[in-house]
Amino acid sequence: MPEGPGPTEWGSGNGVGPWTGPLPRDPRYDPDLLADGDTRNVVDAYRYWTREAIIADIDSRRHPLHVAIENFGSDANIGGVVRTANAFAVDTVHIVGKRRWNRRGAMVTDRYQRLCHHDTTAELLEFARGRGLAVVAVDNVPGSVRLETAELPRDAVMVFGSEGPGISDDARAGADLLVSIAQFGSTRSINASVAAGIAMHAWIRQHADLGRAW
Ligand SMILES: C[S@@+](CC[C@H](N)C(=O)[O-])C[C@H]1O[C@@H](n2cnc3c(N)ncnc32)[C@H](O)[C@@H]1O
Repeated sequence: MPEGPGPTEWGSGNGVGPWTGPLPRDPRYDPDLLADGDTRNVVDAYRYWTREAIIADIDSRRHPLHVAIENFGSDANIGGVVRTANAFAVDTVHIVGKRRWNRRGAMVTDRYQRLCHHDTTAELLEFARGRGLAVVAVDNVPGSVRLETAELPRDAVMVFGSEGPGISDDARAGADLLVSIAQFGSTRSINASVAAGIAMHAWIRQHADLGRAW
């Protein structure tokens, strides 16, 4: 078991006040946060750390999983995808299509998450080939196999479609694997950000070292 409080003891999330006692000399600590307190949305292990130190630490623990979301329609889901990707220490979130997206749902987590923009899906696919990443398209379309029983590749980019049109023809054609999340109700599909969370967690269950989770 890890030492210190776990997720259920994190409390209200209002952060911590000014540092009490002798100041630590570790350069990862931010002098301003030590003096004023730290109310950022970060896990306790990163309290009082500079943003650069936090990013460097996550960079050393990132998973070989990338996620991409096609931004051809509404961008309302992208913030949620970025936040979940941050929680799972995903390597990079790729935004395909429109460059602008609504950052609100990210809850500032985008500051700690590698982001990359591609104008087209073809560009994303080229990136994936260059990095040796298997392309896993995620949508409930004909030809898909069940995410729940699929063996997910370790070095991979999962691609999610836009709200409305769903995954693009280019993503489907370029995918090494096409997976869908089993549904049982009346709706045709689930929210793209929720689908991304489910799919990322399926990868985590198969490949992550849970001993390294908070
Ligand atoms: C709101 S869906 C739209 C497309 C959907 N194929 C349809 O029939 O309407 C937007 C995106 O969420 C993801 N998604 C939603 N439901 C899903 C499911 N059951 N399985 C896999 N992906 C899903 C996919 O990435 C999809 O492109």
